[in-house]
Amino acid sequence: MTIKAIVFDAYGTLYDVQAVARVTDAAFPGQGDTITQIWRLKQLEYTWLRGLMGRYVDFRTVTRDSLGYTLGTLGLDADSALFDRIADAYNTLSLYPEAVEALGQLAHYRLAILSNGSPDMLDALVRNSGLDRILEAVISVDAKKAYKPDPRAYELIEERLGVPPREVLFVSSNGFDVAGAKSFGFKVARIERVTPAALRQDLTGGARIGPATMFRALRTQTEALGFAADATINSLLALPDAIRSFGD
Ligand code: LAC
Repeated sequence: MTIKAIVFDAYGTLYDVQAVARVTDAAFPGQGDTITQIWRLKQLEYTWLRGLMGRYVDFRTVTRDSLGYTLGTLGLDADSALFDRIADAYNTLSLYPEAVEALGQLAHYRLAILSNGSPDMLDALVRNSGLDRILEAVISVDAKKAYKPDPRAYELIEERLGVPPREVLFVSSNGFDVAGAKSFGFKVARIERVTPAALRQDLTGGARIGPATMFRALRTQTEALGFAADATINSLLALPDAIRSFGD
């Protein structure tokens, strides 16, 4: 058996970032979907821009800055209490429905999260969802002040768990993270939350292309960066089968 540790991305992989739409739509009825999608697109863009600029700030700040951008662009005003309430939605995201059962099936592996999230955000998220009782480690890139897919972020896994990259299965639904993790040297399982066929239907079926479809087109598919996942599965519950397919 070569896989010793299974390390998960958090946002979009174990936790559903689309769950913030409940809060954004309650705050600005009818605009929740647009806010949710621009916010998440900008949030990740800011991690990459700040990385290139050499101007790291933690993910809590990035999340608030990108929310500010989003509301500003839409011409929406939020007082500081409402702004905090929307921003804090990232601390209470729902788990994908199969996540707890899937982690239970994998309990004989060392299980961890490696996330862009700041330690305070991840602590809240993991505690609110009960995963603190299941995971051995919750690793924030904040320790390196470098966001994924910067290799320094992925180095944290060996530094914290003592498991070399070839014995790590990294799991993500985020295309950029799949490419980054594969380029770094992990075995990678990609969770395909949106199939290419379903997406193509939404993009070309004649219906208006809304913000959620645009988000899915930009962020849920395999990136054309040349580092494909070792396995693509449509649910976390398929991880044991994927591991068997590696001959493990
Ligand atoms: C994370 C982002 C990439 O959890 O979704 O690190």
